[in-house]
Amino acid sequence: MKLSRRTLLANTAKTAAAGALPLAPAVAAAAPLNFVLIGDWGRAGRDNQVDVANQMGKTAAAIGSKFTVSVGDNFYENGVTGLDDPYWHTSFEDIYTAPSLQSPWKIILGNHDYRGNVQAQLDYSAHSPRWQLPARYYQVSETLPDGTKADFFYLDTSPFIRKYIGSNVNIAGQDTNAQLAWLDKALGASTAPWKIVIGHHPIYTALAPEQGYEHDQPDMIARVDPILRAHGIRIYINGHDHNLQVVTVNGINYVTNGAGSATYQATSAVIRNGFVSGNHGFMTIALTGEKLDYALVDMTGKTLYGQTITRA
Ligand SMILES: [Fe+2]
Repeated sequence: MKLSRRTLLANTAKTAAAGALPLAPAVAAAAPLNFVLIGDWGRAGRDNQVDVANQMGKTAAAIGSKFTVSVGDNFYENGVTGLDDPYWHTSFEDIYTAPSLQSPWKIILGNHDYRGNVQAQLDYSAHSPRWQLPARYYQVSETLPDGTKADFFYLDTSPFIRKYIGSNVNIAGQDTNAQLAWLDKALGASTAPWKIVIGHHPIYTALAPEQGYEHDQPDMIARVDPILRAHGIRIYINGHDHNLQVVTVNGINYVTNGAGSATYQATSAVIRNGFVSGNHGFMTIALTGEKLDYALVDMTGKTLYGQTITRA
């Protein structure tokens, strides 16, 4: 299912009209679990990182965000050197200062993090009340206010990208077959109505191939996507492309949320009837047992695109 922003707003208007009718408490809409997501951000405040952080703080407060997700590339250009790297302060602690962003951050790793000390990013979980990276890939189960379960699968996608082999993106020793076996088993074992998969690299994107930029990731299409399809996943969220994108391919909604600091205006064609914006920004999700509402929000607080995914 894919809705344009115009359709979404029309539906919202209908919902608002319906809301004017007297509703018995038993059928009143359940409160959602709200959270925010950001990708590709750590630049010591440069390239609008601070502007995005400040707006995300305001939006997180307005929606009552319960946690923040980072979809990776946490520190540019080369990750962190260790637990004592000043980047922890200049790119994270001193940037995301809003009270609404002090709740847990569910972290994943990007290719730039793999240029540095990955173990330090894992170890920082014990040094910060909000930084949560318990393993390179992991599952978190959440309970929504209406009691519905939602399982989140946080992936480590850099090891899948074959061009990194032998490069300064140090993926040596990472067992992708083991990660795929884990994902397949964990998705199969999950009885949660919502299963949300989050990784750094895109699978499908809304931009045609072009020289110098990465969009579709053939390695992810070949190895990760079949598992998502086999388990009926509805939404995959990633970063890596430094913009905001939405595309739907055979029923899966692929959302690129890589606009946490430096972005670029796409120069290649928009394909697959997708949405693309080069604005800086982040993502919000409101999740109930019945539906997932997400929005891509720019650093001025403007919603650029929104979509509702109903439970299958
Ligand atoms: Fe990346």
